[in-house]
Amino acid sequence: ASLDTLDDEIPAANRQQNRSLPPQPLPHDSFKDTPDTDPSLPANRAWGRAILDRVPTSTLGNAAVEAATITDADTLNKVIDTAVEKGKAWGALSGDERAEILHRAGDVLEARRADLLEVMASETGKTIDQGDPEVSEAVDFAHYYAESARKLEKVDGATFVPAKLTVVTPPWNFPVAIPAGSTLAALAAGSAVVIKPAKQARRSGAVMIEALWEAGVPKDVLTMVQLGERELGQQLISHPAVDRVILTGGYETAELFRSFRRDLPLLAETSGKNAIIITPSADLDLAAKDVAYSAFGHAGQKCSAASLVILVGSVAKSKRFHNQLIDAVTSLKVGYPQDPTSQMGPIIEPANGKLLNALTTLGEGESWAVEPRKLDETGRLWSPGVRHGVRRGSYFHLTEFFGPVLGVMTAETLEEAIAIQNQIEYGLTAGLHSLNPDELGIWLDSIQAGNLYVNRGITGAIVQRQPFGGWKKSAVGAGTKAGGPNYLAGLGDWTSRASTA
Ligand code: SER
Repeated sequence: ASLDTLDDEIPAANRQQNRSLPPQPLPHDSFKDTPDTDPSLPANRAWGRAILDRVPTSTLGNAAVEAATITDADTLNKVIDTAVEKGKAWGALSGDERAEILHRAGDVLEARRADLLEVMASETGKTIDQGDPEVSEAVDFAHYYAESARKLEKVDGATFVPAKLTVVTPPWNFPVAIPAGSTLAALAAGSAVVIKPAKQARRSGAVMIEALWEAGVPKDVLTMVQLGERELGQQLISHPAVDRVILTGGYETAELFRSFRRDLPLLAETSGKNAIIITPSADLDLAAKDVAYSAFGHAGQKCSAASLVILVGSVAKSKRFHNQLIDAVTSLKVGYPQDPTSQMGPIIEPANGKLLNALTTLGEGESWAVEPRKLDETGRLWSPGVRHGVRRGSYFHLTEFFGPVLGVMTAETLEEAIAIQNQIEYGLTAGLHSLNPDELGIWLDSIQAGNLYVNRGITGAIVQRQPFGGWKKSAVGAGTKAGGPNYLAGLGDWTSRASTA
């Protein structure tokens, strides 16, 4: 019953999309997640150091980026026409044939793990411990969607007709896993892909795409572009041959895309402003560790990151959790990834706009528990910040910042803490730290977020086990979850066998 009530608060467009989901292929029994590199083994640490030695002079991906740069409308139209034309043969392959190539893509991505870590560190400043699980996730997407491709043909009572051309516009913060996931899903469904990696992470995207080409995905079926002019972006999104757009990025970008083309068939995972609630029954040691990791992993530049922690009742009133959190945060070593001891890397670009404001300005009633400091002249390296006294309805409570700053809020009861989170217009991830099953039940029944995490960090979705996708303004268009059993179903149309017979 509570889910029905919550449903009324989902934006109408999403509600409709969620209701019209096609028949669902089942999950795959044979799939296993790929392990990350174990840093406790000396050989793996030596491997990591060799990667970091190459970072300052890395040129990986440069040539592919240069070859992909488009500066005029005619060239872009030709790319689109060719993709649609060559995509026909790709769409005509059987699910099994596509699965074979995608499994190979997973193997090539695994074989190029070191290259992917090198290019991410060099281009975006991502530390190896953050990049490594991202490569595993990309490998997982390949093997998982390969199996999904087989299942698409076996849904009873309906036939799947793949999209002809999917445009993929990924973000820079997960420059391998997110473009890989979106691209592999569209390819698995039988669609051609034109992908425009984010400009801050285009070399990382290029190395990922090269791996897919090496595995046997034809270059005309998977085309990378970098667009010299803003108008070309609009031309690409609004081109009538494009029948799906997979966007991961800000909510405003989804709105911009829809302003280009009102009927845009969009699968978008958008902004987040996520909170972890901690009740008096929680294991506070575990909670402090999980909050610090969720807030400051990759310098907070994850749509899944914890931006708020909401302390309930006695947790808020005693000093214990506050002190633990401050200890955890101030002990984080901040530095560029070339230094293997760095635990928190730089932000992608010098802090400006909303983020600079969040790092330097306090709202009414707020104070710094840990004041963020700019650590070098680039403006990219900041120590993490924690602010106390964030008030309900304030700017910090409701705004997404995407950087290394965490706000602490307090509530008398769990219900009040849930209301604080639900007041936010986004609903991507949410966490609860509690050892009380009744509290867990209350939270599960009423928290409004796509991905829920209990007694663990709130970042790091896992293919098949924890598919990833948002609710409310964290999802626009077909709100299916990446890395889950029904994601491919949104990348084509379904015709009922009965009605076509
Ligand atoms: N999938 C990522 C995570 O779970 C965010 O995009 O952290």
